[in-house]
Amino acid sequence: MSFWKKLYYRQRREQLPPADLGLVRADMHSHLAAGIDDGAQTVEDALALIREMYGMGYRHFITTPHIFTGVHNNTAETIRAAAEKVHAALAAEMPDVTYSAAAEYYLDEHFEKLIEDREVMTFGKNFVLFELSFAAEQASLARAIFHMQLNGYRPVLAHPERYEYWHGNFSKYEAMADKDVLLQLNITSLSGHYGPGVRKISERLIDAGLISLLGSDCHHMGHIELMQVARSCRPLHKLLESGQLINTQLL
Ligand SMILES: [Fe+2]
Repeated sequence: MSFWKKLYYRQRREQLPPADLGLVRADMHSHLAAGIDDGAQTVEDALALIREMYGMGYRHFITTPHIFTGVHNNTAETIRAAAEKVHAALAAEMPDVTYSAAAEYYLDEHFEKLIEDREVMTFGKNFVLFELSFAAEQASLARAIFHMQLNGYRPVLAHPERYEYWHGNFSKYEAMADKDVLLQLNITSLSGHYGPGVRKISERLIDAGLISLLGSDCHHMGHIELMQVARSCRPLHKLLESGQLINTQLL
């Protein structure tokens, strides 16, 4: 039995009709600029992914290529140039879609320097998407949040449910929300693909009302498949109906 079939059968008892992602309309976390990170590698790749997401209800795309020193050495310039190519192709094919670029910043010294210099790419009203190490909590986290806010930025923590070192300490998530750090859930985390721990904490974050933004974190067609699985999960329906999401305010 294929992986996708197994996933389907495991979740069968929870199957609901696919959620309409037109309820959020705007996706604010994806890797849909061509050839500059581990997401879409060509303009055509990006368009194929956007067509699929359009079919789920999305109309607004804020793509967020990685800026991660030594791994994805992007700058605002490399991101804008790659995004412009996708934007031009998209404008011709889907004129009712908006597409713009920000970044997903990995928390490192380079990011902290950009904060100090106020050279961070933002979306919406000064939102900054940033991610943490998957291995362990970084000592610089509190300082970086403080400096973002001091410089007028509004931090958005990418996929908090995927930092497994916090799974046993729910107060870490509450502490982030208390500091006015917005928490962004990946839709794909609800599919079960990242394991039961990630799915469970995702559901707990939804139940606690701690999720403010929903993101696809779409890199490739595999993520589209996972999103389709997640669309039929009850917790996603619950989140979309909760009134807690601010995706539509980004437009
Ligand atoms: Fe991402």
